[in-house]
Amino acid sequence: MGQVNRRVVLLGGAAAAAGALSPPSWAGTRTANAAPPIRDPFQLGVASGDPLPDSVVLWTRLAQAPLNPDGFGGMPDATYDVEWELADDETFGSVVRRGTVATSRAQGHSVHVEPAGLDPAREYFYRFRTQGHVSPVGRTRTAPAAGAAVNRLTYCFASCQHWEEGWYHAHRGIAADDPDLVLFLGDYIYEKPSGRGPELRVRGLAVPDETTTLALYRARHAQHKTDADLQRAHAAAPWLVVFDDHEVVNNWNATTSPATTARKAAAFQAFYENMPVRSTVKPSGASIRLYRRFGWGGLARFHLLDTRQFRSAQVGDCAGMRDPARTITGSAQERWLLDAFGSHPATWDFLGQQVFFAQRDNDGSSATCGYSDAWNGYEASRDRITRGWVERGVPNPVVLTGDVHRHWAADLRQDYFDHSDPIVGSELVTTSVTSTSAGASPPSPEWYANNPHIKYCQGERGYVRVTATPAQLRADFRVVSDALERDPAKVTIGTDVSFLLDAGTRGLRRA
Ligand SMILES: [Fe+2]
Repeated sequence: MGQVNRRVVLLGGAAAAAGALSPPSWAGTRTANAAPPIRDPFQLGVASGDPLPDSVVLWTRLAQAPLNPDGFGGMPDATYDVEWELADDETFGSVVRRGTVATSRAQGHSVHVEPAGLDPAREYFYRFRTQGHVSPVGRTRTAPAAGAAVNRLTYCFASCQHWEEGWYHAHRGIAADDPDLVLFLGDYIYEKPSGRGPELRVRGLAVPDETTTLALYRARHAQHKTDADLQRAHAAAPWLVVFDDHEVVNNWNATTSPATTARKAAAFQAFYENMPVRSTVKPSGASIRLYRRFGWGGLARFHLLDTRQFRSAQVGDCAGMRDPARTITGSAQERWLLDAFGSHPATWDFLGQQVFFAQRDNDGSSATCGYSDAWNGYEASRDRITRGWVERGVPNPVVLTGDVHRHWAADLRQDYFDHSDPIVGSELVTTSVTSTSAGASPPSPEWYANNPHIKYCQGERGYVRVTATPAQLRADFRVVSDALERDPAKVTIGTDVSFLLDAGTRGLRRA
Protein backbone atom coordinates (compact mmCIF):
# COMPACT_ATOMS: atom_id res chain seq x y z
CA MET A 1 0.00 0.00 0.00
CA GLY A 2 1.42 3.36 -1.03
CA GLN A 3 2.47 5.25 2.02
CA VAL A 4 3.18 8.32 -0.08
CA ASN A 5 -0.26 8.22 -1.67
CA ARG A 6 -1.97 7.92 1.68
CA ARG A 7 -0.13 10.90 3.03
CA VAL A 8 -0.66 13.10 0.01
CA VAL A 9 -4.37 12.42 0.08
CA LEU A 10 -4.52 13.19 3.78
CA LEU A 11 -2.63 16.41 3.90
CA GLY A 12 -5.08 18.63 2.04
CA GLY A 13 -8.15 17.92 4.16
CA ALA A 14 -6.30 17.36 7.40
CA ALA A 15 -4.37 20.60 7.31
CA ALA A 16 -7.48 22.59 6.63
CA ALA A 17 -9.47 20.90 9.38
CA ALA A 18 -6.69 21.09 11.94
CA GLY A 19 -6.01 24.77 11.36
CA ALA A 20 -9.12 25.83 13.24
CA LEU A 21 -9.04 23.17 15.96
CA SER A 22 -5.38 22.61 16.63
CA PRO A 23 -4.44 22.94 20.31
CA PRO A 24 -1.16 24.66 21.12
CA SER A 25 1.94 22.57 20.40
CA TRP A 26 4.37 21.39 23.08
CA ALA A 27 6.98 23.90 22.05
CA GLY A 28 7.84 26.10 25.01
CA THR A 29 5.57 24.28 27.46
CA ARG A 30 6.62 22.01 30.28
CA THR A 31 4.63 19.74 32.56
CA ALA A 32 4.36 20.71 36.20
CA ASN A 33 5.01 17.50 38.10
CA ALA A 34 6.24 17.05 41.62
CA ALA A 35 7.27 13.41 41.15
CA PRO A 36 10.94 12.45 41.60
CA PRO A 37 13.05 13.06 38.49
CA ILE A 38 13.47 10.13 36.10
CA ARG A 39 15.70 9.58 33.12
CA ASP A 40 15.06 7.83 29.82
CA PRO A 41 11.51 6.63 30.71
CA PHE A 42 10.45 5.64 27.15
CA GLN A 43 12.69 2.59 26.69
CA LEU A 44 9.64 0.38 26.07
CA GLY A 45 8.56 2.34 23.00
CA VAL A 46 4.99 3.17 22.02
CA ALA A 47 2.10 1.19 20.59
CA SER A 48 -1.46 1.58 19.40
CA GLY A 49 -4.33 -0.83 18.97
CA ASP A 50 -7.99 -1.80 18.88
CA PRO A 51 -8.90 0.77 16.19
CA LEU A 52 -12.50 1.91 15.82
CA PRO A 53 -13.81 4.36 13.22
CA ASP A 54 -13.58 7.22 15.74
CA SER A 55 -10.86 6.11 18.15
CA VAL A 56 -7.68 4.10 18.59
CA VAL A 57 -5.85 3.15 21.80
CA LEU A 58 -2.47 4.84 22.33
CA TRP A 59 -0.07 3.08 24.68
CA THR A 60 3.23 3.52 26.43
CA ARG A 61 4.75 2.42 29.73
CA LEU A 62 7.31 4.35 31.71
CA ALA A 63 10.41 2.42 32.76
CA GLN A 64 13.91 3.73 33.38
CA ALA A 65 15.32 0.29 34.34
CA PRO A 66 13.03 -2.13 32.46
CA LEU A 67 14.81 -5.33 33.53
CA ASN A 68 14.43 -4.84 37.29
CA PRO A 69 13.04 -8.04 38.83
CA ASP A 70 10.59 -6.12 41.02
CA GLY A 71 8.58 -5.34 37.88
CA PHE A 72 8.50 -1.61 38.58
CA GLY A 73 10.97 -0.85 35.80
CA GLY A 74 13.03 1.36 38.05
CA MET A 75 10.13 3.76 38.53
CA PRO A 76 9.76 5.47 41.92
CA ASP A 77 6.57 4.88 43.88
CA ALA A 78 5.06 8.10 42.61
CA THR A 79 2.43 9.35 40.22
CA TYR A 80 3.66 10.74 36.91
CA ASP A 81 1.70 12.96 34.58
CA VAL A 82 2.16 11.90 30.99
CA GLU A 83 1.17 14.20 28.16
CA TRP A 84 0.11 12.73 24.84
CA GLU A 85 -0.59 14.23 21.48
CA LEU A 86 -2.08 13.00 18.25
CA ALA A 87 -1.36 14.71 14.96
CA ASP A 88 -2.07 14.45 11.27
CA ASP A 89 1.61 14.64 10.45
CA GLU A 90 4.83 13.06 11.61
CA THR A 91 6.32 16.40 12.64
CA PHE A 92 3.33 17.32 14.82
CA GLY A 93 2.73 20.55 12.97
CA SER A 94 -0.96 19.74 12.93
CA VAL A 95 -1.99 18.36 16.33
CA VAL A 96 -5.64 17.24 16.48
CA ARG A 97 -5.88 16.04 20.09
CA ARG A 98 -3.79 16.29 23.23
CA GLY A 99 -4.17 15.58 26.90
CA THR A 100 -2.52 14.48 30.12
CA VAL A 101 -2.98 11.24 32.05
CA ALA A 102 -1.60 10.21 35.44
CA THR A 103 0.07 6.84 35.96
CA SER A 104 1.54 5.05 38.95
CA ARG A 105 2.75 1.67 40.16
CA ALA A 106 -0.86 0.47 40.43
CA GLN A 107 -0.86 0.16 36.64
CA GLY A 108 2.86 -0.55 36.27
CA HIS A 109 3.31 3.04 35.07
CA SER A 110 1.51 2.10 31.87
CA VAL A 111 -0.53 4.62 29.90
CA HIS A 112 -3.62 3.83 27.84
CA VAL A 113 -5.27 6.72 26.04
CA GLU A 114 -8.49 6.38 24.03
CA PRO A 115 -8.94 9.62 22.10
CA ALA A 116 -12.51 9.97 20.81
CA GLY A 117 -14.13 11.79 17.95
CA LEU A 118 -11.44 10.99 15.39
CA ASP A 119 -12.11 10.71 11.68
CA PRO A 120 -12.54 7.22 10.20
CA ALA A 121 -9.97 5.60 7.90
CA ARG A 122 -7.30 8.16 8.77
CA GLU A 123 -3.63 7.89 9.47
CA TYR A 124 -2.42 9.63 12.65
CA PHE A 125 0.86 10.08 14.51
CA TYR A 126 1.22 10.11 18.30
CA ARG A 127 3.82 10.59 21.02
CA PHE A 128 4.10 11.05 24.77
CA ARG A 129 6.03 13.32 27.09
CA THR A 130 6.84 13.38 30.78
CA GLN A 131 9.28 15.56 32.71
CA GLY A 132 10.61 16.88 29.43
CA HIS A 133 11.39 13.42 28.02
CA VAL A 134 9.69 12.80 24.67
CA SER A 135 8.80 9.30 23.41
CA PRO A 136 9.43 7.91 19.94
CA VAL A 137 6.67 8.71 17.43
CA GLY A 138 4.13 6.04 16.53
CA ARG A 139 1.96 5.84 13.46
CA THR A 140 -1.56 4.54 13.70
CA ARG A 141 -4.90 4.66 11.95
CA THR A 142 -8.60 4.54 12.62
CA ALA A 143 -10.87 1.91 11.09
CA PRO A 144 -13.07 2.81 8.13
CA ALA A 145 -16.68 3.69 9.03
CA ALA A 146 -19.15 0.82 9.29
CA GLY A 147 -20.27 -0.17 5.81
CA ALA A 148 -17.83 2.17 4.06
CA ALA A 149 -16.39 0.97 0.76
CA VAL A 150 -12.77 -0.11 1.27
CA ASN A 151 -10.64 -1.05 -1.72
CA ARG A 152 -7.88 -2.77 0.13
CA LEU A 153 -6.67 -3.85 3.56
CA THR A 154 -3.20 -5.15 4.29
CA TYR A 155 -2.46 -6.76 7.62
CA CYS A 156 0.23 -8.99 9.06
CA PHE A 157 -0.26 -11.59 11.75
CA ALA A 158 2.28 -13.26 14.00
CA SER A 159 2.59 -15.39 17.14
CA CYS A 160 5.03 -17.16 19.45
CA GLN A 161 8.13 -15.13 20.21
CA HIS A 162 10.21 -16.87 22.82
CA TRP A 163 12.78 -14.26 23.83
CA GLU A 164 15.68 -16.69 24.02
CA GLU A 165 15.06 -18.60 20.80
CA GLY A 166 15.84 -15.94 18.22
CA TRP A 167 15.95 -12.35 17.05
CA TYR A 168 12.81 -10.47 16.06
CA HIS A 169 13.64 -10.05 12.37
CA ALA A 170 10.04 -10.97 11.60
CA HIS A 171 8.92 -7.77 13.34
CA ARG A 172 11.34 -5.73 11.25
CA GLY A 173 9.72 -7.34 8.22
CA ILE A 174 6.25 -6.49 9.47
CA ALA A 175 7.22 -2.84 9.99
CA ALA A 176 8.80 -2.69 6.52
CA ASP A 177 5.62 -4.10 4.95
CA ASP A 178 3.74 -0.98 6.11
CA PRO A 179 0.53 -2.83 7.01
CA ASP A 180 -2.73 -1.14 7.99
CA LEU A 181 -3.04 -3.51 10.94
CA VAL A 182 -1.07 -6.16 12.82
CA LEU A 183 -2.62 -9.12 14.64
CA PHE A 184 -0.76 -10.97 17.37
CA LEU A 185 -2.37 -14.32 18.15
CA GLY A 186 -0.64 -15.44 21.32
CA ASP A 187 2.56 -16.44 23.10
CA TYR A 188 3.87 -12.88 23.19
CA ILE A 189 5.85 -13.95 26.24
CA TYR A 190 6.63 -17.40 27.61
CA GLU A 191 6.33 -18.11 31.29
CA LYS A 192 9.40 -20.34 31.35
CA PRO A 193 12.96 -20.22 30.06
CA SER A 194 13.54 -22.18 26.88
CA GLY A 195 14.19 -25.86 27.35
CA ARG A 196 16.21 -25.97 24.14
CA GLY A 197 19.93 -26.55 23.87
CA PRO A 198 22.40 -23.63 23.82
CA GLU A 199 22.62 -23.77 19.99
CA LEU A 200 18.95 -22.70 19.83
CA ARG A 201 19.15 -19.98 22.50
CA VAL A 202 20.65 -16.70 21.35
CA ARG A 203 19.88 -14.33 24.23
CA GLY A 204 19.09 -14.56 27.89
CA LEU A 205 16.17 -13.64 30.10
CA ALA A 206 17.04 -10.89 32.56
CA VAL A 207 14.83 -12.59 35.14
CA PRO A 208 14.79 -16.31 34.27
CA ASP A 209 12.39 -17.35 37.04
CA GLU A 210 9.12 -18.86 35.87
CA THR A 211 6.59 -16.01 35.85
CA THR A 212 4.22 -16.69 38.73
CA THR A 213 3.73 -13.22 40.25
CA LEU A 214 2.71 -9.80 38.97
CA ALA A 215 6.29 -8.57 39.44
CA LEU A 216 7.70 -11.39 37.32
CA TYR A 217 5.07 -11.06 34.55
CA ARG A 218 5.69 -7.30 34.45
CA ALA A 219 9.46 -7.77 34.21
CA ARG A 220 9.10 -10.40 31.45
CA HIS A 221 6.79 -8.17 29.39
CA ALA A 222 9.11 -5.21 29.91
CA GLN A 223 12.14 -7.08 28.60
CA HIS A 224 10.24 -7.95 25.41
CA LYS A 225 9.24 -4.35 24.88
CA THR A 226 12.92 -3.29 24.90
CA ASP A 227 13.47 -5.05 21.55
CA ALA A 228 14.01 -2.46 18.80
CA ASP A 229 12.40 -4.58 16.05
CA LEU A 230 9.33 -5.28 18.15
CA GLN A 231 9.09 -1.56 18.93
CA ARG A 232 9.28 -0.83 15.19
CA ALA A 233 6.36 -3.14 14.44
CA HIS A 234 4.29 -1.62 17.26
CA ALA A 235 5.05 1.90 16.07
CA ALA A 236 4.15 1.07 12.45
CA ALA A 237 0.44 0.27 12.80
CA PRO A 238 -2.35 -0.45 15.28
CA TRP A 239 -2.35 -3.99 16.68
CA LEU A 240 -5.13 -6.41 17.61
CA VAL A 241 -3.75 -8.65 20.35
CA VAL A 242 -5.00 -11.82 22.02
CA PHE A 243 -3.12 -14.09 24.37
CA ASP A 244 -2.76 -17.87 24.26
CA ASP A 245 -1.45 -20.12 27.02
CA HIS A 246 2.12 -18.95 27.64
CA GLU A 247 1.12 -15.43 28.69
CA VAL A 248 -0.19 -17.30 31.76
CA VAL A 249 1.15 -20.89 31.87
CA ASN A 250 1.47 -23.77 29.40
CA ASN A 251 -1.82 -25.45 28.36
CA TRP A 252 -4.03 -23.74 30.95
CA ASN A 253 -7.81 -24.06 30.83
CA ALA A 254 -10.87 -23.02 32.81
CA THR A 255 -10.98 -25.84 35.32
CA THR A 256 -7.94 -28.00 35.92
CA SER A 257 -5.47 -25.34 34.89
CA PRO A 258 -2.11 -25.15 36.62
CA ALA A 259 -2.91 -21.43 36.81
CA THR A 260 -4.31 -20.51 40.17
CA THR A 261 -6.75 -17.62 40.49
CA ALA A 262 -3.97 -15.42 41.83
CA ARG A 263 -1.64 -16.36 38.99
CA LYS A 264 -4.27 -15.68 36.33
CA ALA A 265 -5.02 -12.30 37.92
CA ALA A 266 -1.32 -11.39 37.87
CA ALA A 267 -0.85 -12.55 34.27
CA PHE A 268 -3.97 -10.72 33.04
CA GLN A 269 -2.99 -7.51 34.82
CA ALA A 270 0.50 -7.54 33.29
CA PHE A 271 -0.96 -8.40 29.87
CA TYR A 272 -3.35 -5.45 30.10
CA GLU A 273 -0.64 -3.06 31.28
CA ASN A 274 1.67 -4.00 28.42
CA MET A 275 -0.72 -4.16 25.47
CA PRO A 276 -2.47 -1.43 23.45
CA VAL A 277 -5.94 -2.73 24.28
CA ARG A 278 -9.14 -0.93 25.29
CA SER A 279 -10.27 -0.36 28.85
CA THR A 280 -12.96 -2.99 28.14
CA VAL A 281 -10.10 -5.53 28.29
CA LYS A 282 -8.97 -4.35 31.73
CA PRO A 283 -9.17 -7.46 33.94
CA SER A 284 -11.21 -7.85 37.06
CA GLY A 285 -9.14 -10.22 39.18
CA ALA A 286 -8.86 -13.55 37.36
CA SER A 287 -11.46 -12.56 34.75
CA ILE A 288 -10.74 -10.72 31.51
CA ARG A 289 -12.90 -9.88 28.47
CA LEU A 290 -10.40 -10.75 25.76
CA TYR A 291 -12.82 -11.72 23.02
CA ARG A 292 -13.99 -8.73 21.02
CA ARG A 293 -14.82 -7.65 17.47
CA PHE A 294 -13.53 -5.01 15.08
CA GLY A 295 -14.92 -3.93 11.73
CA TRP A 296 -13.01 -2.63 8.74
CA GLY A 297 -15.78 -0.91 6.77
CA GLY A 298 -17.64 -3.13 4.31
CA LEU A 299 -14.48 -5.12 3.64
CA ALA A 300 -13.68 -7.11 6.78
CA ARG A 301 -14.61 -8.08 10.31
CA PHE A 302 -12.20 -9.46 12.88
CA HIS A 303 -13.68 -11.73 15.54
CA LEU A 304 -10.90 -12.02 18.13
CA LEU A 305 -11.44 -15.15 20.20
CA ASP A 306 -10.39 -16.39 23.61
CA THR A 307 -9.90 -20.16 23.39
CA ARG A 308 -8.17 -20.44 26.82
CA GLN A 309 -10.14 -18.81 29.59
CA PHE A 310 -13.39 -20.75 29.19
CA ARG A 311 -12.20 -24.05 27.74
CA SER A 312 -12.98 -27.42 29.28
CA ALA A 313 -9.97 -29.32 30.54
CA GLN A 314 -7.95 -31.14 27.87
CA VAL A 315 -8.64 -34.88 27.64
CA GLY A 316 -6.63 -37.56 25.91
CA ASP A 317 -9.31 -39.96 24.72
CA CYS A 318 -11.28 -39.60 21.51
CA ALA A 319 -14.69 -40.06 23.14
CA GLY A 320 -13.88 -37.21 25.49
CA MET A 321 -12.53 -35.00 22.71
CA ARG A 322 -15.85 -35.49 20.88
CA ASP A 323 -18.07 -34.99 23.93
CA PRO A 324 -20.67 -32.33 22.97
CA ALA A 325 -20.72 -31.07 26.56
CA ARG A 326 -17.12 -29.88 26.24
CA THR A 327 -16.25 -26.44 24.89
CA ILE A 328 -13.19 -24.46 23.80
CA THR A 329 -14.97 -21.08 23.79
CA GLY A 330 -17.47 -21.30 26.63
CA SER A 331 -21.16 -20.91 25.89
CA ALA A 332 -21.37 -17.09 26.15
CA GLN A 333 -18.56 -16.53 23.65
CA GLU A 334 -19.97 -19.19 21.33
CA ARG A 335 -23.34 -17.41 21.35
CA TRP A 336 -21.63 -14.05 20.77
CA LEU A 337 -19.88 -15.48 17.71
CA LEU A 338 -22.89 -17.34 16.28
CA ASP A 339 -25.08 -14.24 16.71
CA ALA A 340 -22.57 -12.19 14.75
CA PHE A 341 -22.60 -14.78 11.96
CA GLY A 342 -26.27 -13.88 11.47
CA SER A 343 -25.41 -10.54 9.85
CA HIS A 344 -23.03 -9.95 6.98
CA PRO A 345 -21.81 -6.35 7.03
CA ALA A 346 -18.46 -7.16 5.40
CA THR A 347 -16.98 -9.30 2.65
CA TRP A 348 -14.45 -11.15 4.83
CA ASP A 349 -14.95 -12.63 8.30
CA PHE A 350 -11.60 -13.27 9.97
CA LEU A 351 -11.56 -15.34 13.15
CA GLY A 352 -8.34 -14.23 14.88
CA GLN A 353 -7.57 -16.94 17.41
CA GLN A 354 -4.96 -19.07 19.06
CA VAL A 355 -4.93 -22.77 18.14
CA PHE A 356 -5.14 -25.01 15.06
CA PHE A 357 -8.73 -25.21 13.78
CA ALA A 358 -8.60 -27.79 10.97
CA GLN A 359 -8.30 -31.47 11.76
CA ARG A 360 -4.85 -32.92 11.33
CA ASP A 361 -5.24 -36.63 10.74
CA ASN A 362 -1.97 -38.33 11.57
CA ASP A 363 -2.89 -41.92 10.73
CA GLY A 364 -5.76 -41.96 8.23
CA SER A 365 -8.17 -43.18 10.89
CA SER A 366 -11.24 -41.43 12.29
CA ALA A 367 -10.90 -43.57 15.42
CA THR A 368 -8.06 -41.31 16.63
CA CYS A 369 -8.39 -37.59 17.31
CA GLY A 370 -4.91 -36.01 17.26
CA TYR A 371 -3.65 -32.97 19.19
CA SER A 372 -5.85 -32.42 22.22
CA ASP A 373 -4.84 -28.83 23.03
CA ALA A 374 -6.29 -27.43 19.75
CA TRP A 375 -9.80 -27.51 18.20
CA ASN A 376 -9.13 -31.20 17.41
CA GLY A 377 -9.57 -31.78 21.12
CA TYR A 378 -12.90 -29.94 21.17
CA GLU A 379 -14.56 -31.44 18.12
CA ALA A 380 -18.15 -30.66 19.08
CA SER A 381 -17.22 -27.05 19.74
CA ARG A 382 -15.58 -26.85 16.32
CA ASP A 383 -18.66 -28.44 14.72
CA ARG A 384 -20.98 -25.90 16.34
CA ILE A 385 -18.90 -22.93 15.13
CA THR A 386 -18.39 -24.32 11.61
CA ARG A 387 -22.06 -25.30 11.22
CA GLY A 388 -22.94 -21.87 12.62
CA TRP A 389 -21.24 -19.98 9.82
CA VAL A 390 -22.44 -22.42 7.15
CA GLU A 391 -26.10 -22.22 8.25
CA ARG A 392 -25.99 -18.44 8.58
CA GLY A 393 -24.44 -17.96 5.17
CA VAL A 394 -21.25 -16.20 6.24
CA PRO A 395 -19.87 -15.18 2.86
CA ASN A 396 -16.12 -15.67 3.30
CA PRO A 397 -14.95 -17.15 6.62
CA VAL A 398 -11.19 -17.34 7.21
CA VAL A 399 -9.64 -18.60 10.45
CA LEU A 400 -6.31 -17.06 11.50
CA THR A 401 -4.13 -19.11 13.84
CA GLY A 402 -0.79 -19.17 15.69
CA ASP A 403 0.59 -21.62 18.27
CA VAL A 404 2.26 -24.37 16.24
CA HIS A 405 5.56 -22.72 15.20
CA ARG A 406 5.11 -23.66 11.55
CA HIS A 407 3.26 -22.06 8.63
CA TRP A 408 0.21 -23.97 7.43
CA ALA A 409 -2.52 -23.32 4.86
CA ALA A 410 -5.70 -25.37 5.05
CA ASP A 411 -9.24 -25.52 3.80
CA LEU A 412 -12.01 -26.29 6.27
CA ARG A 413 -14.69 -28.98 6.13
CA GLN A 414 -17.48 -30.12 8.39
CA ASP A 415 -16.26 -33.71 8.11
CA TYR A 416 -12.50 -33.95 7.66
CA PHE A 417 -12.61 -37.74 7.35
CA ASP A 418 -14.88 -37.52 4.30
CA HIS A 419 -12.58 -36.15 1.63
CA SER A 420 -15.52 -35.30 -0.62
CA ASP A 421 -17.27 -33.18 2.03
CA PRO A 422 -17.61 -29.62 0.71
CA ILE A 423 -15.04 -26.99 1.65
CA VAL A 424 -16.71 -24.38 3.87
CA GLY A 425 -13.87 -22.00 4.74
CA SER A 426 -10.10 -21.68 4.99
CA GLU A 427 -7.43 -21.38 7.65
CA LEU A 428 -4.14 -19.50 7.56
CA VAL A 429 -1.66 -20.48 10.28
CA THR A 430 1.38 -18.33 10.99
CA THR A 431 4.68 -19.81 12.05
CA SER A 432 6.47 -18.33 15.05
CA VAL A 433 8.46 -15.11 15.25
CA THR A 434 11.22 -17.03 17.08
CA SER A 435 9.91 -20.07 18.99
CA THR A 436 11.59 -23.07 17.48
CA SER A 437 10.02 -26.00 15.72
CA ALA A 438 13.33 -27.86 15.60
CA GLY A 439 12.69 -31.57 15.52
CA ALA A 440 9.35 -31.35 13.67
CA SER A 441 9.67 -33.22 10.39
CA PRO A 442 7.81 -32.03 7.29
CA PRO A 443 4.57 -33.86 6.51
CA SER A 444 5.08 -36.84 4.21
CA PRO A 445 3.19 -37.44 0.95
CA GLU A 446 1.21 -40.12 2.81
CA TRP A 447 0.30 -37.59 5.49
CA TYR A 448 -0.92 -35.11 2.88
CA ALA A 449 -2.94 -37.92 1.24
CA ASN A 450 -4.77 -38.38 4.55
CA ASN A 451 -5.28 -34.60 4.80
CA PRO A 452 -6.20 -33.35 1.32
CA HIS A 453 -7.62 -30.14 2.86
CA ILE A 454 -4.11 -29.15 4.01
CA LYS A 455 -2.15 -27.36 1.31
CA TYR A 456 1.13 -26.27 2.82
CA CYS A 457 3.49 -26.55 5.78
CA GLN A 458 6.81 -24.75 6.33
CA GLY A 459 9.00 -24.88 9.42
CA GLU A 460 10.96 -21.60 9.16
CA ARG A 461 10.39 -18.50 11.31
CA GLY A 462 8.27 -15.61 10.00
CA TYR A 463 4.74 -14.21 9.79
CA VAL A 464 1.82 -14.02 7.36
CA ARG A 465 0.88 -10.94 5.34
CA VAL A 466 -2.69 -10.74 4.06
CA THR A 467 -3.98 -8.38 1.42
CA ALA A 468 -7.76 -8.34 1.12
CA THR A 469 -9.86 -6.61 -1.51
CA PRO A 470 -13.59 -6.94 -2.19
CA ALA A 471 -12.75 -9.54 -4.86
CA GLN A 472 -9.84 -11.52 -3.48
CA LEU A 473 -7.59 -12.37 -0.57
CA ARG A 474 -3.88 -12.97 -0.93
CA ALA A 475 -1.84 -14.57 1.85
CA ASP A 476 1.94 -14.24 1.63
CA PHE A 477 3.74 -16.68 3.89
CA ARG A 478 6.79 -14.66 4.92
CA VAL A 479 9.94 -16.38 6.10
CA VAL A 480 13.10 -15.16 7.82
CA SER A 481 16.27 -16.75 6.48
CA ASP A 482 17.89 -17.17 9.91
CA ALA A 483 16.27 -16.04 13.16
CA LEU A 484 19.35 -17.17 15.13
CA GLU A 485 21.56 -14.66 13.28
CA ARG A 486 21.59 -11.28 14.98
CA ASP A 487 23.00 -9.14 12.15
CA PRO A 488 20.13 -7.87 9.96
CA ALA A 489 22.56 -7.48 7.06
CA LYS A 490 22.99 -11.25 6.99
CA VAL A 491 19.25 -11.99 7.16
CA THR A 492 16.73 -11.92 4.33
CA ILE A 493 12.97 -11.77 4.72
CA GLY A 494 10.91 -13.00 1.80
CA THR A 495 7.74 -14.71 0.66
CA ASP A 496 7.96 -18.49 0.57
CA VAL A 497 4.60 -19.08 -1.13
CA SER A 498 1.39 -17.12 -1.64
CA PHE A 499 -2.18 -18.41 -1.63
CA LEU A 500 -5.24 -16.80 -3.15
CA LEU A 501 -8.88 -16.99 -2.17
CA ASP A 502 -11.56 -15.50 -4.39
CA ALA A 503 -14.47 -13.86 -2.60
CA GLY A 504 -17.64 -15.90 -2.98
CA THR A 505 -15.81 -19.14 -3.72
CA ARG A 506 -14.24 -21.77 -1.46
CA GLY A 507 -10.75 -23.16 -1.38
CA LEU A 508 -7.23 -21.78 -1.28
CA ARG A 509 -5.12 -21.95 -4.41
CA ARG A 510 -1.46 -21.24 -4.92
CA ALA A 511 -0.70 -17.89 -6.51
FE1 LIG B 1 4.13 -20.95 21.11
